Amino acid sequence: MKYSLTDDAVDDLSTPCLVVSLARAKVVAQALDEHDLFAQASQDFKDDADQTLTVHLPGKISRLLVIGGADQVLKPEEFRKLISGAARALCKLPIKQAVVALEACTVSDQTTAEKLQSAMQSISHAAYRYTKHKSKPAKPATLTAIKFLVEHKKGLSPCVKQGNALDAGMALSRDLGNEPPNICNPAYLLSQAQQFADHPKVVVSYLDEKQMTAANMGAFMSVSRGSDVPGYMIIIEYKGGKPGDAPIALVGKGITFDTGGISLKPPPGMDEMKFDMGGAAAVLGATEAVIAAGLKLNLITVVAAAENMPSGRASRPGDIVTSASGKTIEILNTDAEGRLVLCDALTHVQTFKPKTIIDVATLTGACVVALGAHASGLYANNQSLADDLLKAGQASGDKAWQMPLWDEYHSALQSNFADMANVGGRNAGSVTAACFLSEFVKDVDWAHMDVAGSAFLGGAKKGATGRPVPLLFAYLCEKAG
Ligand code: BES
Ligand code: MN
Ligand code: ZN
Repeated sequence: MKYSLTDDAVDDLSTPCLVVSLARAKVVAQALDEHDLFAQASQDFKDDADQTLTVHLPGKISRLLVIGGADQVLKPEEFRKLISGAARALCKLPIKQAVVALEACTVSDQTTAEKLQSAMQSISHAAYRYTKHKSKPAKPATLTAIKFLVEHKKGLSPCVKQGNALDAGMALSRDLGNEPPNICNPAYLLSQAQQFADHPKVVVSYLDEKQMTAANMGAFMSVSRGSDVPGYMIIIEYKGGKPGDAPIALVGKGITFDTGGISLKPPPGMDEMKFDMGGAAAVLGATEAVIAAGLKLNLITVVAAAENMPSGRASRPGDIVTSASGKTIEILNTDAEGRLVLCDALTHVQTFKPKTIIDVATLTGACVVALGAHASGLYANNQSLADDLLKAGQASGDKAWQMPLWDEYHSALQSNFADMANVGGRNAGSVTAACFLSEFVKDVDWAHMDVAGSAFLGGAKKGATGRPVPLLFAYLCEKAG
C-alpha cells in the first residue's frame, strides 16, 4: 500500500472512495448537494463499531464508505479494530485508491501522527494478500494507494514515510513466513537479504558452513549438518547513524523447516514448522522498514539460517558439541535446535560491539501455552530495555509480556557431561530456553523475544502475522529520535 497526505478541501476532492465517519459523511453529502440521496441510503445504517456502509454518489467522489462507531473518543485498540474493518470493506471494492478522512475520530492519548501510524499499520495488515502459489488467485485486491485527508500536512510527512516503510517491512516478513519450505530455505533467506545491498548505506555478508566450522560454531553446525541444504549466518549492516555510534543488533532464528531432527516431531501440524524462520522474517522485515524509513541509527541484523532435518549426519540425543563461545553443550533433544543456532549467532554478533541486542525466535511451544497468540514473550537482562520494548509493543498494538529470567531457573540446564544441556525439562520451557541464550551474552544489554505464538497463526487463519515487526520498528524509530 502506498500512503500519502492531502489537505484538499472536500469540494476539490476527486476519488473513487472517501472513507469517513457517519457525522462527517452527512456534512460531506450536504456539501456535495447529495443530502437526500445520502439520507435515503443510510436510513437503515446502524452506527456501530462493526458496521460499514458504502453509498454511491454521482460526482467526483464516487463513493462514501461510512465507518460505524467512529464519531466518538476511541481507545487505541478500538480505533485499530474500526480501521481494520473499514480496510477489509475497502479491499473488496473494485478501486485502486481511496481517501481516508479521520479528523472526526479522536483516539485517546494519541497525537494525529500516532493515529495515522496506527491507521496505516491496520490497513497494511488488512490489505495483505499471499496468492503467489494459487494458479487462479481469488480476485486480487486492486487497492494500492491511500490518501489521508488532514487539516495540516505540516510535520506529518515523516510519519507517512514510516507508515510506508512499515508496510514494506511487514509484507516482506509475512511473504517470507508464508513461502513454502521447499522454496524458502537458508539460501533463499540469504538471497532476500542480499537485495538490501542495493542501498548505499547497506553491506550484506555471510558465513557459509566452511567458515562457520572454522569459526568453531559447533552448535550451529550440529543443526545445519543434518540437512542437505547448506546453512548460512547472514549479516546485514545498515549505517544510517554516526560512524562511531555502536549499533543496535537484531538476531533472528531462521530455521526454515523444523522437523525436530532425530527427536522427530509428530506429523500433525508439522507443516507449520515452515514458520520456524519467523524470527528471521521479523528481523529482516524490521531491517527493511528501517532502511526504507532512512532511520538515523546503525543497525546490525544477523540471521541464523538452517534447516533441522533427521539424517545420517544429524545430531543424536546425547551428542556433545562446542559452541563458538567455547561452552560445551549436551544435546538432549535435537528439537531444541533454535537455541543451538542462536547461541553461535549471539556470540558472533557481539564481535560488532553492539550497544543492544534483541533476538527474535519461534523458540518454544511452552511460550504458546503460556501466552497464546496475543503477546510475544519478552526476556531481558536490563529492565530499561525491557520497558522500552514493552512500551513499543503498547504503542504499536503488537504487544509483548515480560517473563522472568531469574537465577533459580538456570539450574534446570545442568548437565552431567557438558557445561550445559540444551533442554531444561517440561516446566517453564520458554524461561529455561531464554536462560540458555542468556549464557551467551556478556556485558551487553540483551532482550529475547519468544514469538512462537505471535509470529504465525494456525487453523483457518493459517499464515504469518508479520509480528513483531511493528514492535521492533516502533522501538527503533524511538531510538533513532
Ligand atoms: N520451533 C519449535 C518451537 C515452536 C513450537 C514454535 C510451536 C512454534 C510453534 C522449537 O524448535 C521446538 O521444537 N521447541 C521444543 C523445545 C523442547 C524440545 C525443549 C518445544 O517447544 O517442544
Ligand atoms: Mn524444534
Ligand atoms: Zn524450532
